[in-house]
Amino acid sequence: FIFEKKLITSGALFVALSITYLLFLCAQVKELVLDNCRSDEGKIEGLTAEFVNLEFLSLINVVLISVSNLPKLPKLRKLELSDNRIFGGLDVLAERLPNLTHLNLSGNKLKDISTLEPLKKLVFLKSLDLFNCEVTNLNDYRENVFSLLPQLTYLDGYDRDDREAPDSDAEVDGVDEDDDDEGEFPS
Ligand SMILES: *[C@@H]1O[C@H](CO)[C@@H](O)[C@H](O)[C@H]1NC(C)=O
Ligand SMILES: *[C@@H]1O[C@H](CO)[C@@H](O)[C@H](O)[C@H]1NC(C)=O
Repeated sequence: FIFEKKLITSGALFVALSITYLLFLCAQVKELVLDNCRSDEGKIEGLTAEFVNLEFLSLINVVLISVSNLPKLPKLRKLELSDNRIFGGLDVLAERLPNLTHLNLSGNKLKDISTLEPLKKLVFLKSLDLFNCEVTNLNDYRENVFSLLPQLTYLDGYDRDDREAPDSDAEVDGVDEDDDDEGEFPS
């Protein structure tokens, strides 16, 4: 009987330690790629504010409709959201990702410039990609986006003078140069 009680206690301790360890692991993750994982009801699932050190998040083609479930990720710099069904609600990005520099929304359902207005608050935003969104068909699209978001250097991969951005992959590598092997998520 005593033995059993001890076992239960150590079981609870084991669970507590496991959770602590999991939280510790989450905090180690710097890059997370969840491309092509189908989202539940068009929202982001399972991603929590425990990922405090996340710098790169990729959610390409996950049938995402809304980013409302995104946790606060103060260190996130690059967010890939291509090929989803996002049509608005971008204020969440401005609120929860204060350090964002690269945002890729290509292939989404963004139709007008006013939808982009919340991005004004992303003061470090350097690169925005809206390729294949309806908004790109509007008259004076590039001029209007650049004047709405003066902090931007690159829109759809080109700057104000139509100069192409340097290889973006090289830039990602540059950002994560310090210990690269830490960022792997155990699967
Ligand atoms: C941006 O990131 C840096 C470190 O990467 C951090 O110290 C700073 O608090 C972050 N900014 C905000 C507004 O959270
Ligand atoms: C945005 O994502 C698309 C699709 O993944 C990619 O082809 C494009 O190069 C990206 N844009 C930038 C500026 O990285």
